[in-house]
Amino acid sequence: MIPARSDFPEGFLLGVASSAYQIEGTEGAGPCHWDTFAATPGNVRRAEDGARACDHLNLWPQDLDLAREMGADVWRFSTSWARVQPDGKGPANPAGLDFYDRLVDGMLARGIKPALTLYHWELPSPLADIGGWANRETPLRFADYAALVAERLGDRIWSWGTVNEPWCVAWLSHFLGAHAPGLRDIRAAARAMHHVGLAHGLGIAALRAAGRGNLGAVVNLEHAAPADDSPQAAAAAHRHDGIMNRWFLGGLLQGAWPADVVAALAPHLPKGWEADMATIKAPVDWLGINYYTRKLCAPAPGPWPAYHHPEGPLPKSDLGWEIYPEGLGVMLERVASMAPDLPLYVTENGLACAAEPDDLRISYLAAHLEQARAAIAAGVDLRGYFLWSILDNYEWAEGYDARFGLVHVDFQTLERRPKASFAAFRQGWA
Ligand code: GCO
Repeated sequence: MIPARSDFPEGFLLGVASSAYQIEGTEGAGPCHWDTFAATPGNVRRAEDGARACDHLNLWPQDLDLAREMGADVWRFSTSWARVQPDGKGPANPAGLDFYDRLVDGMLARGIKPALTLYHWELPSPLADIGGWANRETPLRFADYAALVAERLGDRIWSWGTVNEPWCVAWLSHFLGAHAPGLRDIRAAARAMHHVGLAHGLGIAALRAAGRGNLGAVVNLEHAAPADDSPQAAAAAHRHDGIMNRWFLGGLLQGAWPADVVAALAPHLPKGWEADMATIKAPVDWLGINYYTRKLCAPAPGPWPAYHHPEGPLPKSDLGWEIYPEGLGVMLERVASMAPDLPLYVTENGLACAAEPDDLRISYLAAHLEQARAAIAAGVDLRGYFLWSILDNYEWAEGYDARFGLVHVDFQTLERRPKASFAAFRQGWA
């Protein structure tokens, strides 16, 4: 059973989450690094891209209707940098901003709060061409883009998030090579790890300068579990936790990258990085946590960080991610103890599961909502929970096979069809 609205404190918000490239279709947007990543053989299943996706660009009114019908209070969406500012600098593309203007008005007309994320991974190609996140120019340009969006939409946005999942933008994309730009280069990765934090800080400053409030960051955290009782496995888990969790929590909340990770990355970090830490620590009004799974960690041969993720024994999603709701509770309490006065949101949680009726999704979401309830009962200032995702959509390197939606999308006809999980939420929250 999905816990209902009445099981949560008054004012607790139910949200749905999506991102531009994953649902909109790219018509009218400038080229971005995901287009070229997908066009490069071997990167994405069947070389699928976001060219059409869910055609949310045209079908958004029915998508917003669905969100309202389900009982969502908030829609966490993103503006595409490549649509708003195709050159990555200079004036905005008016048609791009016009689209988001209509979309935001459509949310408000339905009583849905617009929660805007500025960067969910559409780096404009002209910035990719000069080294993207490895180049300090990119965070500087990001602040200008933030100001452009704030100027046009600022009066109607409920909350602002800067960079979605900085670990994915930096490490997954420049060290592990799994997302655009697909690099496996420790130097580019180290620089991106720093610059993406700087983009967050400069973005917050630009939004504040534009008079905007309710500003936050969204990090993806993963429970890092040693694969066995050995000290080596514990050390591997500590390294994974450092790169994935402690790096951005430490930088954004405390103004310090963790010393153990800095020690390994130091030769590659941009000169003078220390001077940026005060900017990176820009005070925020909330922190969003995206949580999906845990990872077992075991030592591996080779240079730092020298670990790998053996397959775990728990039930898994279609992507092979273990289902471990307890990890969400642990993370919420951990972040709350680092920043006791900061309101928290679960900004993404969901399951890749194509089977229908989607009972496994229902039990996954129910178990994670129970963890959210328990955290609140333990004193965590958790204000809301966002489902990933309202629609089946483009799951990055996994293409269209991995279905995260509470609404099924037929990618041939574009027909939307609510699943059993949608009905379960409507019952308890609408
Ligand atoms: C994110 C996520 C989404 C994914 C979801 C499932 O970064 O916000 O990567 O874009 O679709 O996390 O993997």
